[in-house]
Amino acid sequence: MKQIAVIGSGTMGNGIAHTFAQFNYQVNLVDINQAALDKALQTISKNLDRQVAKGTLTEDQKSTTLKNITSYTSIKEGVQHADLIVEAATENVELKLKIFKDLDEHAPANAILASNTSSISITQIAAVTNRGDKVIGMHFMNPVPVMKLVEVIRGYATSDETTNTIMSLSQSLEKVPVEVNDYPGFVANRILMPMINEAIYTLYEGVAGVYEIDTVMKLGMAHPMGPLQLADFIGLDVCLAILKVLHDGFGNPKYAPCPLLVNMVAAGKKGAKTSEGFYQYT
Ligand code: CAA
Repeated sequence: MKQIAVIGSGTMGNGIAHTFAQFNYQVNLVDINQAALDKALQTISKNLDRQVAKGTLTEDQKSTTLKNITSYTSIKEGVQHADLIVEAATENVELKLKIFKDLDEHAPANAILASNTSSISITQIAAVTNRGDKVIGMHFMNPVPVMKLVEVIRGYATSDETTNTIMSLSQSLEKVPVEVNDYPGFVANRILMPMINEAIYTLYEGVAGVYEIDTVMKLGMAHPMGPLQLADFIGLDVCLAILKVLHDGFGNPKYAPCPLLVNMVAAGKKGAKTSEGFYQYT
């Protein structure tokens, strides 16, 4: 594994590109929009500065990391020599299926195709390719350079060889990979999203305010962020989409999204990225 293509240069895509480049992989960062790529490279540079300021990275390592990243606006050019492609596009099934068809067409026949999806079925994604054994979930957590977990999701047809390669590769990034099977929400979001939804219900039913709910969970359970702040950080639209996947996938009312979450997303209050969610952001 030498050359890694990352599809999508948003928060997750730029964090994944940053992390591979920092560990000396050649990274092709692909997005349809050059302005988004420029912004992603600026974000990566700023996040590398945090590491330099903390003394965990030298200026030389920062500049090598940046040199390891090349940006592309064409999937075909970005993936044609890649050993692994990690897709980190928007959480939209139709979009992901289209991207995987393109990847299957343009990536080398032996390349592994991974998705950073937080809840879309790996088995469904794999089914649009002719290499189901080489399709896998590689679910990084935000902020990617900081969080140690990679949830490695085996689709129905994923081979042992592909899984073992991705487990070792994740370790080479100093991450801790955990292997899970492909069912709605996998493990991370099957457990996290019901907690976030319950926090929103607690607010909706007037049991306590935003500050109170987050403080109970932050100080009482030693969580780094309260669930409402974490929901803002993840994106309320993303939380809603994942809850819908859980609700549809299991057909169990316990996963029904809180009406307050539905309303906030409909009103465009999607959390930190829109400057307003449960908190205001400047
Ligand atoms: N790149 C590099 N370093 C970064 C960074 C980035 N993007 N963001 C933060 N950091 C570093 C800082 O340098 C700092 O390092 P040290 O602690 O070693 O000094 C550290 O991270 C903490 O940063 P801050 O001091 O700025 O802020 P903080 O103490 O409030 O921590 C946080 C920020 C790491 C985000 C912390 O609040 C946290 O862990 N929050 C919960 C994150 C979480 O749960 N993520 C998972 C979300 S779910 C998901 O991603 C998957 C999904 O499918 C929905």
